[in-house]
Amino acid sequence: MSLDIDFVRSQFPSLQSEWVFMDNAGGAQVPRMVVDRISDYLLGDNVQLGASYGPSQVSRGKVMAGREAVKTLVNARHVEELVFGPSSTIQFRLLADALASQFAPGDEIIVTNTDHESHVGPWVRMAAERGATVRFWNCDPETLELDLEDLAALMTERTKLVCVTHVSNLLGTINPVKRIARLVHEGGARLCVDGVAFAPHRAIDVQDWDVDYYGFSLYKVFGPHHAVLYVKKECLLELDNIYHYFFTKEQIPGKVEPGNPNYELTYACTGILGYLTEIGEKNRDESDRQKLENAFHDIAVHEAHLGERLLSYLRQKEGVKIIGREDADIDHRVATISFVVAGQKSDEIVTRVDSSRIGIRFGDFYARRLAEDLGLMDMNGVVRVSMVHYNTDAEVDRLITALDAAI
Ligand SMILES: Cc1ncc(COP(=O)(O)O)c(C=O)c1O
Repeated sequence: MSLDIDFVRSQFPSLQSEWVFMDNAGGAQVPRMVVDRISDYLLGDNVQLGASYGPSQVSRGKVMAGREAVKTLVNARHVEELVFGPSSTIQFRLLADALASQFAPGDEIIVTNTDHESHVGPWVRMAAERGATVRFWNCDPETLELDLEDLAALMTERTKLVCVTHVSNLLGTINPVKRIARLVHEGGARLCVDGVAFAPHRAIDVQDWDVDYYGFSLYKVFGPHHAVLYVKKECLLELDNIYHYFFTKEQIPGKVEPGNPNYELTYACTGILGYLTEIGEKNRDESDRQKLENAFHDIAVHEAHLGERLLSYLRQKEGVKIIGREDADIDHRVATISFVVAGQKSDEIVTRVDSSRIGIRFGDFYARRLAEDLGLMDMNGVVRVSMVHYNTDAEVDRLITALDAAI
């Protein structure tokens, strides 16, 4: 059985709009189930957690249900391995703060030139403060892929941390995180992965991949503006307390969740899981995790089909250069597709498409180092079309018609 696209679209009230949403890597639409949970919480149980009176216990139960839902979403072993916060940018910065004391002068951190700056800047800053060295793992300028042999060559006995994006939000390429984790661990280092551009497209499995830190933004995964950072328990226990002085190192995840992570948005995560398990249900007796994996299987197939429809147009269009893989290979790319056009500015192309009521976007998407290394800033970055599973063939065709007129 494949994705029931009519059912999918019926779950998102905003998709009744005349607009086509193809800027999903910027932020995705939200199904009614998620919105309902937010209002349910605020209208029914909006009290402070941790007290002995009944409503406080009910609220706590709902927030815990949200945490449990995300545990299923990422396949964590323990619910306390999930650290909630307002955005991935903040989560990575806080992680760098909580890790800083583990770094001494001469220690090394590897980052990539394909990452969003939110997953480079905090490491560069922390390294500078601790006297550590940052080494750049750059993509191959021809294939635009991160080569594992290059990573192996960069690693030394002083390498303590490797930071890499799971999917580049500009290239759409999926990096082989499980293989990277093995290599990093063999070298005695830890691995931090930015999963923001991957999470809307495939099932996350932190246990299978054996990553140490894995962060992503729930507002790109059909949820509200909220973010989660998975930290493997043994790594979490080692982090410094960055909350009040009386928190202990054993108080996880509280010691790295300064302030109360938003309650209603955490509870709303039950709606993300509810929605995904509903579209993935093949058999009522399956576990939620199995239903989720079914859903992402169907999502991947549908998105690869949409991706190929657009890529096949772009491949043959004169003057167009795809920035990233040219094929829609399900194992190697998501339907986040960037391109430039010879002799044209990316912003001008996009603003011409705006009048067709199709939301796409131009720029560097804060992958500024990559855009600079590839010489893309002169044309105001790339044109990026980022599709998710609720997009349709008809929408891709509408985009192709608009692009054909705009280029
Ligand atoms: C790959 C990637 N990493 C990190 C971020 C930052 O996420 P947030 O907006 O939650 O801080 C983004 C946002 O677009 C992103 O695309």
